[in-house]
Amino acid sequence: MTTFEAQDAAAQVDHASQSDVTAARSVSMQEARQLRDAPPPFPFGWFAVAQCHELRAGAVLTRQFMDREIVIYRTQSGTVCATEAYCPHLGAHLGHGGEVCGEELRCPFHGFRFSVKGSCVYSPSGAPPPAARLGLLEVRETHGAILVWHGPAGQVPWEIDAPDEESEWRRVGHRIRHVRSHPQELLENSIDITHFSALHGFGNVGVSRPATFDGPRLGVDYALKQKTPWGSPVDVALRIRLNGLGFAITEVETLGFTLRLVGLATLVAERDTVHLLLMSMRKQGRSLAGKAYWRCAQEVLGPFVMGGLMNQINQDDPVWSNKKYLRRPAIAEGDGPIHAYRRWVSQFYPEGAAW
Ligand code: FES
Ligand SMILES: [Fe+2]
Repeated sequence: MTTFEAQDAAAQVDHASQSDVTAARSVSMQEARQLRDAPPPFPFGWFAVAQCHELRAGAVLTRQFMDREIVIYRTQSGTVCATEAYCPHLGAHLGHGGEVCGEELRCPFHGFRFSVKGSCVYSPSGAPPPAARLGLLEVRETHGAILVWHGPAGQVPWEIDAPDEESEWRRVGHRIRHVRSHPQELLENSIDITHFSALHGFGNVGVSRPATFDGPRLGVDYALKQKTPWGSPVDVALRIRLNGLGFAITEVETLGFTLRLVGLATLVAERDTVHLLLMSMRKQGRSLAGKAYWRCAQEVLGPFVMGGLMNQINQDDPVWSNKKYLRRPAIAEGDGPIHAYRRWVSQFYPEGAAW
């Protein structure tokens, strides 16, 4: 008999003698059952494996991606490839001694060379065997990051639909964090309106554009007030756009400028998410911001608001790292569209997967 079954049995004995006490205990057992809910599996979609500047021409890097290692490399002309880690000849790990030779990747063990299409184009011991093909993964570069596709065999990837990367955006920093959680749990906060005030202390939180669910994309806007050290709170407009569970853009408009946070959550093992955050800012419109104000915004206000955003993520972190994924959460009326979000995320898992 498991611990849970023993506790259930004990609760039933109590039920016979003390019905009022039993009612409370029986609720407690239901909660205990939820504690056995499995976390979601590895999701499908685009997931970041590096920042673009980490992969210079000729570089070969090994990355943990989902439950395995992959190798990414950039050819001398700039093409980025992502491949399974092991050479199809005799299994050498291409991330340990593999080299870029022009447009080809050379395996260190016997010198087979592979094209950017994955085919073996050279073998020192005779004609390249037709079976010597690298398993390549779809890869994209956008917003300063390299993203790799994880999806079911044969499925054509959807494309990331993200706002512009024009030159007016000024990169102001980045962070890389490990979170003991799952990307689905991190992004659920986007539509969890109650936590904005309860956990982060925002005031007057309202939805200015209700959540829309469009294929792999989700969008939602909020208006709220943020406390400041100088007393009066400032108005903040928050615009959140998700492309699956691995690519999220949050734009924060306040004080005459916009901060953009590109959040890239990649699950690298069960309950281990690498969370890469890329931050940039730009002026809002033309009228408000003269040169002096824009300088002040970049040097003082921007870092201040950015620090506030990082503090908020630091507030989320202990919740994410210690919470339990509940398959059937007890949602209150004003909690935001959690159930709609859960239906939306189901597209990112294998059909029939139970979690
Ligand atoms: S194992 Fe790669 S060339 Fe032999
Ligand atoms: Fe949050």
